[in-house]
Amino acid sequence: MSSPSYHTSILCKYYLIISLVATFFMLFFFNLTYISSQYVDSSIFTMKCEEAGPKETTANLSHLMFVLVGSSRAWKHRRTYIESWWRPNATRGNIFLDVEPSEEFRPWSPTFPPFKVNEDLRKLRIYPKLANRVHIRIYRSILETYRLKQDDGVRWYVTGDDDSVFFVDNMVDVLSKYDHTEKHYIGMFSETIKSNFHFSFDMAFGGGGYALSYPLVEALVEELDNCIERYHYIWAVDHLQSLCLADLGVDLSLEKGFHQMDLYGDISGFLSSQPTAPLVSLHHFETVTPLFPGMDRPGSVNHIMKAANVDQSRMLQQSICHVRASNWTFSVSWGYSVHIYEKIFPRSYLKLPIETFRPWWHGGPPPFYMFNTRPVSRDPCEAPHWFFFVSIEQEKEGVVTSYKRKFPRNMTSCSFSGNTSADPLTTIRVFSSKTPKPGRKVECCDVEYEGANVAYMRLRDCRRHEIIA
Ligand SMILES: *[C@@H]1O[C@H](CO)[C@@H](O)[C@H](O)[C@H]1NC(C)=O
Ligand SMILES: *[C@@H]1O[C@H](CO)[C@@H](O)[C@H](O)[C@H]1NC(C)=O
Ligand SMILES: *[C@@H]1O[C@H](CO)[C@@H](O)[C@H](O)[C@H]1NC(C)=O
Ligand SMILES: *[C@@H]1O[C@H](CO)[C@@H](O)[C@H](O)[C@H]1NC(C)=O
Ligand SMILES: *[C@@H]1O[C@H](CO)[C@@H](O)[C@H](O)[C@H]1NC(C)=O
Repeated sequence: MSSPSYHTSILCKYYLIISLVATFFMLFFFNLTYISSQYVDSSIFTMKCEEAGPKETTANLSHLMFVLVGSSRAWKHRRTYIESWWRPNATRGNIFLDVEPSEEFRPWSPTFPPFKVNEDLRKLRIYPKLANRVHIRIYRSILETYRLKQDDGVRWYVTGDDDSVFFVDNMVDVLSKYDHTEKHYIGMFSETIKSNFHFSFDMAFGGGGYALSYPLVEALVEELDNCIERYHYIWAVDHLQSLCLADLGVDLSLEKGFHQMDLYGDISGFLSSQPTAPLVSLHHFETVTPLFPGMDRPGSVNHIMKAANVDQSRMLQQSICHVRASNWTFSVSWGYSVHIYEKIFPRSYLKLPIETFRPWWHGGPPPFYMFNTRPVSRDPCEAPHWFFFVSIEQEKEGVVTSYKRKFPRNMTSCSFSGNTSADPLTTIRVFSSKTPKPGRKVECCDVEYEGANVAYMRLRDCRRHEIIA
């Protein structure tokens, strides 16, 4: 840390000296108006230099202002999603609703974010022409948050829906890579090609959430109502947002950990092969089957949070290792699932999600997704044994997550690679270290299996030049 700030201060000194010399030079040779403008320029420069000094602290949760949007009618069944990740007295922000919440939520629980009721839109001149009034109400929550003047020390605004689930430690980790004193718009497009095609490939989808650095928020709020007038015919709020930001000269920076989840059905294949990046958000729980077999939707969200509350850095991160003696491959998606294949597969193949899900837009020929997939297979050499996350324990040296088989595979063994069936296995226990996983680094693993019904996986750093195949 010390060396860049040292260089900054040396540079600052040089610039200061040069600008002082220049000012004196101007004093002698040019007229007064020009001198005064030069003088102002150099003092602005000095102030900027001081800001770039070493005082800057690392990002933490208190620097994030959450702008959450929902409706009072939906609160009853959506509250659990927000409650699963909201940390009272640590996370900052509000949930914006259309009308006052009903009596049954009075008094408002301290486990919820404080609620605000959105301003009446009818005061806007453009009101009769708005293509989507609900979305414009939602959009103005950014402006209304700013007007609350609760932004002391805030570096980022993070927007989300009432059915977005955030992994806030990872969010802090991802945002800390960016300079919050510059203008940044950070999020991810949809998983479904057609969604991006119909809206935009250059927008952050709102349910997956997105982040705006504070200087960008300041620029946006001044312009927000004008922008609504300019684009009153736009239907989707997140699309509108991308247009407003584009006109402010800011384009989207993609972060793979945000998930709009424009998918239908069983997303277990998707969650078992995630990109190597901190998991930041999940969304659309009501259009997918519950994340875990045998659980309801809210229950499954709370269940996945049990792992996330211990170690967010490894959430859904995939590690792959092989048992050469039996020609098996193990693949864990930490905190969610383990797959065992009765064959040796390379990582290059297993990092593709198994297409257990369906695309958001029905009909038409493929391609559907912004990523490559593997088909669901009934071939015993290709189909994995599935195990799902059941529990997490913290031990002295590390963390142990356990995964159990929820249904039999109903297949013969893979004859091609030696007929060694993994059917006897019921439980996989995965050991990981207490230190967080570095953001974009893949972890390797080893398997211990002595023929009983339990196998152990131990996550570790990959060796130099290790081949995962
Ligand atoms: C977060 O950083 C601020 C400085 O910006 C500091 O005052 C505060 O104590 C930190 N909070 C935590 C929880 O570390
Ligand atoms: C939050 O802080 C307030 C005041 O410090 C305290 O009364 C309350 O119990 C805290 N709430 C939680 C959920 O920790
Ligand atoms: C295997 O068979 C059982 C009982 O018929 C069934 O419940 C289960 O879903 C089947 N498993 C798979 C992976 O098809
Ligand atoms: C696996 O078992 C099948 C049927 O018993 C047999 O035909 C095949 O040769 C076996 N494969 C290996 C690699 O042993
Ligand atoms: C592993 O699979 C290969 C084929 O890929 C086969 O030749 C070999 O015999 C198998 N090893 C065992 C121990 O079954």
